[in-house]
Amino acid sequence: MTRVAKLVGLVVVLVAMAAVAWPLLRSGDPTAFASGKRVDLADFKGANPTGVPPSLAHADLVARGEYLARAADCAACHTVLGGEPFAGGLAFKLPMIGTIYSPNITPDKDTGIGAWSDDEFVRMLHEGIGKGGKHLYPAFPYPAYALMTRDDALAIKAYLFSLKPIEYTPPPNDVAFPFNQRYLMTFWNVLFKPGHRFQPNADQPAEWNRGAYLVEALGHCGDCHTPRNILFGLKPGQKFAGALIQGWKAYNITPDPKWGIGEWSDAQLQGYLAHGHADGRSSASGPMAEVVDNSLRFLSEDDVGAMAAYLRSVPSRAARGELAVAQPPAGQPQPPKEVRADSSGGTLGLRIFEGACIGCHSLDGSGAVSKYATLLGTRSVNDPAGTNATQALLQGTHVHTTLGKEFMPGFGNGYSDAEIASVVNFVTRRFGTTASALTPKEVSKRRQD
Ligand code: HEC
Ligand code: HEC
Ligand code: HEC
Repeated sequence: MTRVAKLVGLVVVLVAMAAVAWPLLRSGDPTAFASGKRVDLADFKGANPTGVPPSLAHADLVARGEYLARAADCAACHTVLGGEPFAGGLAFKLPMIGTIYSPNITPDKDTGIGAWSDDEFVRMLHEGIGKGGKHLYPAFPYPAYALMTRDDALAIKAYLFSLKPIEYTPPPNDVAFPFNQRYLMTFWNVLFKPGHRFQPNADQPAEWNRGAYLVEALGHCGDCHTPRNILFGLKPGQKFAGALIQGWKAYNITPDPKWGIGEWSDAQLQGYLAHGHADGRSSASGPMAEVVDNSLRFLSEDDVGAMAAYLRSVPSRAARGELAVAQPPAGQPQPPKEVRADSSGGTLGLRIFEGACIGCHSLDGSGAVSKYATLLGTRSVNDPAGTNATQALLQGTHVHTTLGKEFMPGFGNGYSDAEIASVVNFVTRRFGTTASALTPKEVSKRRQD
């Protein structure tokens, strides 16, 4: 097939799918689940849910922008590990499509965004269209930022423009035809990008509206926690029901008592968001640890409380398929089980755990170095697939140095696939309800992911 034929074919397929699946696929407003009347911000009579918390209301534009840029977690994707903040270069491997790299968004005039006007910057966040009319891919969460107010967008711009310009050009994208035809995003945007700014709900409390703005317009939690349809749009009917991201399970965070966080106390939920740890529940690892480190730990207590209140209001959903990782049974974490042999019949997992892990986690899973290392009662050790436990072992969790506590080193280079599999199986068997039966082959596959 010629390129043109392929392209025409793709457009026809897209249009046909859009026509048939319009009502099914279309994301609509992310707060549409809530009862009550949504109104434009200008017509809203309640407290303004956008902008910075009251303590920063009189701070200068740059300080307000810094708070908002953190709440929107711009640093996460535009900074490589150990690299200059906001200089870009982080690779995003998109299945079928190819690899794209986050751009440099420091104020360097040639390699960054130093030459962008206010209108260009706002259009980029609201429409997903960059300088010169370039359509951006939704690996950049502009469908969330489309809800942000113009004032908040310009505060973020002022903050970014106050930083040191870094001269750096990230590697060129490697995207296969036809996905390199960026204007195709026009179709996608009709389906999946809200066409309006954040609309507060006149019948919901002020705290809920603030939480909705933080979660939907800034924090883009659904980007990781909501599963996507075949066109990469978020499934509105499965809001926050859990999804796979970079090989990790971003668990169900709906109020469902079994599959979500419905049984977490306010202190647990808010503690997890603000500090990456919920006593008796879990610690944030991997991508979620980065969200806490770069973003959530800087938010005011009231803002974290508002986010938690909003999360509790979304419809409960059972997680599906391999994403269905139940919370450990209610009440106190179960005491660890006596494990002499791992599921493959050997004692390799136990030996590795005693040799390399008890220093931090202790044999009873209570976390010898800090409460962050508590394994008992966490969802990861109760996952029959051992997904996040495997990721934590292969990669470690690189962040948390800023929190001044022990972090988990990676064991991917030191251990064979068989060793990783047996120690994961040991951990889920000893501390969880259902032991995993990970094979060395599966570990090898996860290394590739
Ligand atoms: C989840 C990852 C992610 C987050 C969070 C994110 N970005 Fe990006 N951003 C990207 C990627 C990837 C691209 C490139 C998209 C493309 O090439 O189509 C991009 C593109 C951009 C561009 C276009 C630059 C250019 O040279 O064309 C700007 C400006 C930008 N982002 C600013 C921001 C700001 C401001 C924030 C926070 C409000 C932010 N980004 C948050 C991933 C992210
Ligand atoms: C970059 C992807 C990503 C983003 C963005 C993200 N999360 Fe997560 N989240 C994860 C992953 C992965 C886990 C599992 C972490 C683990 O295993 O330690 C997780 C875990 C959680 C948990 C704990 C669930 C449990 O049972 O252990 C909560 C609560 C949570 N996230 C809330 C949020 C909120 C609220 C936001 C938005 C402010 C958010 N997340 C944004 C990836 C993400
Ligand atoms: C230097 C201390 C340290 C060592 C050694 C260590 N861990 Fe960890 N581990 C942690 C901390 C701290 C966490 C909590 C996540 C965080 O804060 O980064 C964690 C998290 C975990 C998790 C949960 C991941 C998730 O999804 O939340 C598992 C499973 C785990 N470790 C298993 C192991 C095993 C098995 C070993 C030995 C091979 C090991 N750890 C060695 C400190 C350590």
